Amino acid sequence: MEEASRIKKYAADITSIREAQDRIKPFIHKTPVLSSETLSSISGRKLYFKCECFQKGGAFKFRGACNAIFSLADDQAVKGVVTHSSGNHAAALALAAKLRGIPAYIVIPRNAPKCKVENVLRYGGQVIWSEATMQSRESTASKILQETGGVLVHPYNDGRIISGQGTISLELLEQAPHLDTIIVPISGGGLISGVALAAKSINPAIRIFAAEPQGANDAAQSKAAARIITLPETNTIADGLRAFLGDLTWPVVRDLVDDVINVEDTEIIQAMKLCYEILKVAVEPSGAIGLAAVLSDSFRKNPVWNDCKHIGIILSGGNVDLGMLWDSFRK
Ligand SMILES: Cc1ncc(COP(=O)(O)O)c(C=O)c1O
Repeated sequence: MEEASRIKKYAADITSIREAQDRIKPFIHKTPVLSSETLSSISGRKLYFKCECFQKGGAFKFRGACNAIFSLADDQAVKGVVTHSSGNHAAALALAAKLRGIPAYIVIPRNAPKCKVENVLRYGGQVIWSEATMQSRESTASKILQETGGVLVHPYNDGRIISGQGTISLELLEQAPHLDTIIVPISGGGLISGVALAAKSINPAIRIFAAEPQGANDAAQSKAAARIITLPETNTIADGLRAFLGDLTWPVVRDLVDDVINVEDTEIIQAMKLCYEILKVAVEPSGAIGLAAVLSDSFRKNPVWNDCKHIGIILSGGNVDLGMLWDSFRK
């Protein structure tokens, strides 16, 4: 009861998430849930993989982007949408804008992975380059907003985005209703905020864990400090997990995320390999981190989590440069 009343004060809630589900249903894929006896026995739990790597655009980001774009009134939408992103949100926004028939102006830092830039171009997004720093990304995006009169769609610190991402839980808990735990990659926290708000509203006892690279462990540090911590620099193979929490995602992470599991890049690479070899699914580093977390010593050896028996893992994206994939497997 207390949980249910707290949930109302966040940027999204079960009502906005259900509305998002109706709004985006005609456009998104309902992604499958895979399981593997081998991976379940390696982990000692029953694992259920929600394959958002099969989502349109190759990542869950299309859910939030679609919800944001199709929420706009016609007079707002006509001038187009603007964002800054190094990857999956950029492509997702370009694709959703294309479906709505409006322009998408995407500010991309010069160090973005090639396959993600190609996705933006494939979907007709107009690319504007910035330097790799957040400051350069933001100032370039403000300039484009002024020039075009478009609407800013932030990659995670936005109620429409959080609501769209939350539709994953509605599907997942229909496909696997007996889950007692969900493990979710975390960066800016839009994905985990939506997933936690929806899942805990349906089943307040369900546990939500964030999976985060050790080299970008701002969420773990923020939880420990009870305030948002940002890092001077990040260092991880998971290119989608380098952003920091926002003022809309932090309260949800603070209150509804049960724990943060930090993993090393070597564990992420091993998890990608298992996804490829056993599930036969190509998953990018940021997408494979949930499997890395469930297999990590810190999770397995923590007696507190012994009763997590049926675990949903969100394979959040599959946009990986094949050259990088092969190179990392050889290490
Ligand atoms: C594949 C993938 N997984 C997870 C995330 C993290 O999402 P969020 O920033 O909403 O926490 C991202 C963000 O870009 C991503 O691209």
